[in-house]
Amino acid sequence: MKEKTIKSLEEISAVQRMLEQNGVWARQQYLKDAHYLARLDFQQSPNVLWIGCSDSRVPAEIVVNANPGEMFVHRNIANQVATTDFNCLAVLQYAVDVLKVKHIVVCGHYSCGGIAAALRPQQPGLLLVNKWLMRVKDLYRLNQNEIESLPTQRERAMRLVELNVIEQVQNLAHSSIIQEAWSSYEQPSIHGWVYVPRSGKIRELIEMQPRSAINPIYM
Ligand code: CO
Repeated sequence: MKEKTIKSLEEISAVQRMLEQNGVWARQQYLKDAHYLARLDFQQSPNVLWIGCSDSRVPAEIVVNANPGEMFVHRNIANQVATTDFNCLAVLQYAVDVLKVKHIVVCGHYSCGGIAAALRPQQPGLLLVNKWLMRVKDLYRLNQNEIESLPTQRERAMRLVELNVIEQVQNLAHSSIIQEAWSSYEQPSIHGWVYVPRSGKIRELIEMQPRSAINPIYM
């Protein structure tokens, strides 16, 4: 057998390191529970759909100590639930109607680059990102007085992070997928959280139980 040269971490590229670490991780999983991953081969039955930001500092499973099989995950810039986004809606439909998740978590985070960008003028050359963040700009405009009453830009951005999470929870509640699930199976409940990068902790902002009242114009 050809002997592999052991390279220093500096020498190997980031992706090679990922593949090596995958081998380490898979071995650790096997030693912890030899059959855990094999059992998941047959089916998944996660209780939770996580909708979070793509930000590398908020790795969904890691921050809640979740194992493979525990969470169905959708992530995009600034954790948006847009009713025109087939990607998000397809994930939502599958999670709710097929996997029958009991909970949906929308988790935003402070220091969110997407939210900060939405508070600035559009950036030339980032046409798609600008469009994606347009709804966050709308949310700022609709809450401009409250947000602008805060003394610092940092606090204004933090408040918009929170308002954005609450808005996405509302967007879920207004969707026909959730409305039908609430009337048919009385689940899922929807939770709005914000992750604090500097402490690693999560704060709860809002919770909507099945059949929570919504504005009748959305029914
Ligand atoms: Co973010």
